[in-house]
Amino acid sequence: MSVVDVIRAKRDGHRLNEEQIDWVIDAYTRGVVADEQMSALAMAVLLRGMDAAEIARWTSAMVASGQRLELKVDRPIVDKHSTGGVGDKITLPLAPLVASCGAAVPQLSGRGLGHTGGTLDKLESIPGWRAQLSVDEIMRQLNTVGAVVCAPTEGLAPADRKLYALRDVTGTVESIPLIASSIMSKKIAEGTPAMVFDVKVGSGAFMKSQQHARALANSLVEIGGAHGMHTTALLTDMSVPLGRTIGNALEVVEAIEVLRGGGPRDVVELTVLLAREMLALAGISDVDPGEVLASGRAYETWCQMISAQGGNPEGGLPAAKHVHVVNANRDGVVATLDAYAVGQAAWRLGAGRSRKDDAVQHAAGIRCLAKPGERVAAGQPLLELHTDSKDTIKPAIAALNGGLEIRDTAAAHTMTVLEAV
Ligand code: URA
Repeated sequence: MSVVDVIRAKRDGHRLNEEQIDWVIDAYTRGVVADEQMSALAMAVLLRGMDAAEIARWTSAMVASGQRLELKVDRPIVDKHSTGGVGDKITLPLAPLVASCGAAVPQLSGRGLGHTGGTLDKLESIPGWRAQLSVDEIMRQLNTVGAVVCAPTEGLAPADRKLYALRDVTGTVESIPLIASSIMSKKIAEGTPAMVFDVKVGSGAFMKSQQHARALANSLVEIGGAHGMHTTALLTDMSVPLGRTIGNALEVVEAIEVLRGGGPRDVVELTVLLAREMLALAGISDVDPGEVLASGRAYETWCQMISAQGGNPEGGLPAAKHVHVVNANRDGVVATLDAYAVGQAAWRLGAGRSRKDDAVQHAAGIRCLAKPGERVAAGQPLLELHTDSKDTIKPAIAALNGGLEIRDTAAAHTMTVLEAV
């Protein structure tokens, strides 16, 4: 088979057949198809699209590029995937909560890139906590604690690992077929039989419009169905950061507050809502996750989950060397706190990375002292910018420009589910 013929076929708007897809993914994984050829094909897919059958086959080929976990657990297994946002620390309270309700939650998570945070970066702010586990360790923890949040094992969907890194530097991330197949190849390889998707919509998300988010959600659910996975998807708002903290250690602190029965209302509401969806898919109907969260049982599971991976759940978290306060410039009500602007600012402060191998600053980030709908007086602190490098404060303030607005009146922002798919 000739890769140039495959590229030409997609470039000219034709369907790729199963043989072409299987061959090109396998040849790319083995290094027979070069990066420049795969980037041309990825661009052709971005511009021309793929139909449902092509996406399902592309996903299967990426799953087949590596090993598949066989999860052997004596309770129902269910997972959640968020398409990523600003301040989205929901996995942290959600995984132990759902495990405390009787399900097993295998969360093979990622790191942040650009302005969106990554679950592993957040958890790595806990001294000693280890993201990389062996398959045996994953199984043991699932059977004892019920929840494991860790890095994907080396052999899972290697084609996606290669292709995702390539897409990131060739302007080909924003393709619904490529995003859907990338996410699903990892989830199918992970071996979870049931999955809830939280597809984020808004300035702080990959999908800026509800229409695009709906198309992605439909594609995820369709691929899941084609692979025998039970799935549901919610479209949730990401125009304002979730909760009041953005950045690794700051978000862990907020997640712990939620697990201890406090925390911001939007984080609690989304955690409980997603837990309900997950439990429904797992066939567990006699437990109320809201009650379990309030009882402190999920906090106990969190402590077990962190200890099992080498972290001290009661130990301290890193604090930033510098904290710069942004004050209100007038009396009024916070009208805008734009998720993208805040995410960019947190990234500049050191909470995120620009290149895959960069280290993140665990203590860097932003604490939002006022959110949309809250009344403030001139000079009152609105945001705290946390960083270890003082020279990042100026660029972070520049990134916030236009993303923070106070008016005479403004509505409160509530966590919104826009649609269920
Ligand atoms: N997350 C993924 O795993 N893959 C994508 O392509 C985008 C987000």
